[in-house]
Amino acid sequence: MEAAVSTAAGTRMLVYQDREALSVATAERFAAISRERIRSRGRFAIAFSSGSTPRRFYSLLASGSFRDKVEWAKTQVFWADERCVPPDHDESNYKTVRDILLSAFPLSEGQVHRIRGEADPQDAAQLYEKELRSFFGAGRMPVFDVVILGAGRDGHTASLFPGSAALRERTRLAVPVYLDAPQLNRVTLTLPVLNHAAHVLVLASGEAKADVVRVIFEEGNAKQYPAGLVRPVSGALEWFLDRDAASQVRSGALKRS
Ligand code: 6PG
Repeated sequence: MEAAVSTAAGTRMLVYQDREALSVATAERFAAISRERIRSRGRFAIAFSSGSTPRRFYSLLASGSFRDKVEWAKTQVFWADERCVPPDHDESNYKTVRDILLSAFPLSEGQVHRIRGEADPQDAAQLYEKELRSFFGAGRMPVFDVVILGAGRDGHTASLFPGSAALRERTRLAVPVYLDAPQLNRVTLTLPVLNHAAHVLVLASGEAKADVVRVIFEEGNAKQYPAGLVRPVSGALEWFLDRDAASQVRSGALKRS
């Protein structure tokens, strides 16, 4: 690791040389959290994201020495968001995670809680909310053991985009997000759910993310980027960055660790 900074209570920014190092570190952290949560709670409930950045991290978890580091039999898999496409579509977040990671383990159907991307977005959000309430218990916020997120160059995270009404949602767990063509409609977990997680790991790599990272960490998220609105109420937030994504954070700030 090149630098570690504690930026606020419960928040850490970890900077690695490149995406490979970031992916290895994220896999190690994920495995450690899984051990700790399975020891204390008997199960491990995850929400995955898609995008290009976590792909290597997912493939690491499925291979080599990481294969045995997560007790998949005690794991329950959810998604932070989904594109409104069928589950065998190349843009499906379910398919991405299944193909790279889940297919390597004998998970039962009951352990995989996908968002129904093939349904009408409103119906898919409602079905997913029902599934979340039935798993985590009605009348309370779900507490994911870990949520994996990314950050777009426009500051979005999961499918929470800048300026979206979805950002103001306080009671629903999942909502539809209608985007202009050619982007696909989506379904996303809402901020209250993300912010009740025990651990949130945000992965960002590449120079295109540098300005978003700078605004969030150096300007108090003055632009209200959705990725910067993820601040767990009592859980831990860790940003895993490569050197390029952290390149606009003042070196003085990086040396604070
Ligand atoms: C998705 C994600 C999305 C992603 C960011 C970052 O399904 O695409 O949930 O929020 O994490 O767009 O994506 P990259 O890693 O490709 O930059």
